[in-house]
Amino acid sequence: MYKSKGKESASGNWMKVMRQNGMLYYFAIVVMLLMVDLSEGSRRLDIETQNLEVQKQLNKFNKPPVKTIKSPDGDIIDCVHMSHQPAFDHPLLKNHTIQMRPSYHPEGIFGMSKTSNLKKKTRPNTQLWHSKGRCPEGTIPIRRVKQEDLLRASSIERFGKKKHKSFPKPRSASPDLITQTGHQHAIAYVEGGRYFGAKATINVWKPQIQQPNEFSLSQIWLLGGSFNSDLNSIEAGWQVSPDLYGDNNTRLFTYWTSDAYQATGCYNLLCSGFMQINNDIALGASISPISGYKTNQYDISLLVWKDPKEGNWWMQFGNDYVLGYWPASLFSYLVDSASMVEWGGEVVNLESDGLHTTTQMGSGHFPDEGFSGASYFKNIQVVDDSNNLRAPDDLGVFTEQSNCYDVQLGKDGGWGNFFYYGGPGRNPDCP
Ligand SMILES: *[C@@H]1O[C@H](CO)[C@@H](O)[C@H](O)[C@H]1NC(C)=O
Ligand SMILES: *[C@@H]1O[C@H](CO)[C@@H](O)[C@H](O)[C@H]1NC(C)=O
Repeated sequence: MYKSKGKESASGNWMKVMRQNGMLYYFAIVVMLLMVDLSEGSRRLDIETQNLEVQKQLNKFNKPPVKTIKSPDGDIIDCVHMSHQPAFDHPLLKNHTIQMRPSYHPEGIFGMSKTSNLKKKTRPNTQLWHSKGRCPEGTIPIRRVKQEDLLRASSIERFGKKKHKSFPKPRSASPDLITQTGHQHAIAYVEGGRYFGAKATINVWKPQIQQPNEFSLSQIWLLGGSFNSDLNSIEAGWQVSPDLYGDNNTRLFTYWTSDAYQATGCYNLLCSGFMQINNDIALGASISPISGYKTNQYDISLLVWKDPKEGNWWMQFGNDYVLGYWPASLFSYLVDSASMVEWGGEVVNLESDGLHTTTQMGSGHFPDEGFSGASYFKNIQVVDDSNNLRAPDDLGVFTEQSNCYDVQLGKDGGWGNFFYYGGPGRNPDCP
């Protein structure tokens, strides 16, 4: 008994070790399987989290529509009740009473003599989605953000915001600044006064973009404050931006920021801020038709001005469409007035292949080609401190590399103050 017990106990010990090792082995396998399963699970979890994040953002952008219109360019235009628009998500605008019209509309020398420019015949412009329907009264058209738009963005959080500080800063432009920001401009500007608005008629083109994360735009800037982290900016014009829109179409756009493109502001209605009242024009929608080289020229007129009573900055498209306004409460410096106005083009130059980008500005042709060859801004005006539209006093011009993109001022009876601008980007003189 003792013996056997001893034996038994010896073999019991041995069995125990075996069992323990076996357990260890078994345990190791379980741990390994668990790890595989966990990483599989966390991958699935990552995808689910991203889907949730995308869905959350989409719900923020896309408000429940009263009616939906499918545009021929693939856009979906949602007609959203005016009181459900994104602006009302802004903490400062929760109690905002929407203004249905500006208290004041600036007047001035306007709609110049047409007969003096018979040779320079231009035509009006509208939006492509109009061919498929219109939004009812009381609603506003909003370009729907699709899932693929967000997935294309480098950051879901910053979708609809500018990636770089991209304001042209005429006086201190140095080669350092150019390579640092990768943005190039050809602009005209005024500074040194107090400006309460700006206007111009811009012809519309479809510049070629070398790669999707570059863009080309033509716009008006109203700037307030210094060129520091608190710069205020209101911007409007046309742009081609494959990353933002998923195609190469030319689109009407706006932008605003009150902190130099950091946390505040965005393109179009892609954040809360701009208060739209118009049911005809969608921000971010394709403009049609566009100008052709040495054929028909099409242009758009943009006017941005400050309502002297309410302090809001209003925007008008063409002669007929008052689109809405940026509430004064969004801004610091622009609560008072703009200290600088700029008109012109901007492109992103990523030099991805070590050479200057081939992304075009304007028509892609230099200013010296003139009407129907080069792109133009005409009837350039500012709103002065008595709220009148008038010609700016001293227009300056600025471009980082005139061999790539250039600008040329002019003045005549029909076009008032104007300039031709743009260029092809990379060429023998701009390697
Ligand atoms: C909006 O109104 C409510 C109730 O009157 C008030 O408590 C709140 O502070 C207001 N919010 C803003 C941003 O003015
Ligand atoms: C946009 O244009 C580029 C060439 O400039 C082309 O490679 C690309 O396929 C176009 N993208 C779309 C969506 O049409």
